[in-house]
Amino acid sequence: MNAVTKHPIETAALDRRGRPLRDLRVSVIETCNFRCPYCMPEETHPDTSLLGAAHRMDFAQIERAVRAFVALGVRKVRLTGGEPLLRKNLPQLVERLAAIDEIDDLALTTNGSLLARHAQALRDAGLQRITLSLDTLDPERFRALSGNRGDIRDVLEGIAAAERAGFGSLKFNAVIQRAINDVDALALAEHFRGSGHVLRFIEYMDVGTCNGWRRERVVPSAELRDRIAARWPLRALDAQYRGEVATRYAYADGAGEIGFVSSVSTPFCGDCHRARLSADGKLYTCLFADEGHDLRPWLDDAHALERQLGEVWGRREDRYSELRGAAVRDPHRIEMYVIGG
Ligand code: GTP
Ligand code: 5AD
Ligand code: SF4
Ligand code: SF4
Repeated sequence: MNAVTKHPIETAALDRRGRPLRDLRVSVIETCNFRCPYCMPEETHPDTSLLGAAHRMDFAQIERAVRAFVALGVRKVRLTGGEPLLRKNLPQLVERLAAIDEIDDLALTTNGSLLARHAQALRDAGLQRITLSLDTLDPERFRALSGNRGDIRDVLEGIAAAERAGFGSLKFNAVIQRAINDVDALALAEHFRGSGHVLRFIEYMDVGTCNGWRRERVVPSAELRDRIAARWPLRALDAQYRGEVATRYAYADGAGEIGFVSSVSTPFCGDCHRARLSADGKLYTCLFADEGHDLRPWLDDAHALERQLGEVWGRREDRYSELRGAAVRDPHRIEMYVIGG
């Protein structure tokens, strides 16, 4: 990276809708130890490894790719999977990325099952924030929602370990589906009120091809918000930055905040600044993309890589959530676990 290339490319990295590139989600592994029915159902994914290690970028390649994204304007990086803590020596990657000055925010999304044994090393390596996926606190429903693979006690231990390691405020993502776990929403809100952590409810989305999505299963955020506000009054908060995914509310009694990610009922494509990089080095410009752009041929040449990224971003027109319904469902659409949400 140098001043000659960095500056002009950074100012030029706008897509066809004028959206800058600010936020990068990097999947470090495409497999998971859970089989959540809405993401990676057991029936279609009985096996553990999908790509196999040989097709994954190594840490040096991931770092090079991230540096190129940073040169185009990325300031926020989130590591995802599949389940990212299945990737061996992940703290070594965190350390490499934490050393990139321009990255203001380095975060990780995990299912939490392996967090207890990794939290301290991740913190020591420079990870700033952790988001956990947690759809219920009920042990039996938790097990079922993980495809009979997870144990809520492991996640609770992971949370405690993350707190001990110094991750002050954790985030929790809860995907709520009607007649599956909508009964859990109030209990989740109650559990995290006043904890210093932030719960966000995510509308169930039609990502990928294998989760049998049905609109009737979507619980609109407004409905959840009203249910919660009836019990604990809420006050709307302003977005912290343009393009923030979650709409935030504060509990009127001072017990912290709660958020809603409403990409089905209230699409936010107009401000979408996110790119996604799969473990095998493909760039996806939308969560609902049917095709990725292979970056591997460019990874050895920083200038060529930056130029390539700039071109792909410059051609970007995605706004799937705004077109949902009108959009044709592509049978090859990328799966959620490949790009990590
Ligand atoms: P913070 O950095 O903590 O603000 O996180 P974030 O707002 O980027 O949210 P996070 O990465 O935790 O995303 C939460 C969930 O929202 C993801 O796992 C996805 O399910 C969904 N989501 C995030 N970004 C997008 C997006 O660009 N489009 C759509 N449709 N959904 C998204
Ligand atoms: N709809 C909404 N969120 C989903 N996630 C996975 N699949 C879906 C879906 N179909 C969420 C996970 C996790 C994040 C990475 O994406 O629960 O919190
Ligand atoms: Fe794994 Fe997360 Fe997908 Fe569940 S949602 S199967 S924990 S990647
Ligand atoms: Fe961005 Fe695509 Fe989500 Fe719209 S649907 S917010 S363009 S990732």
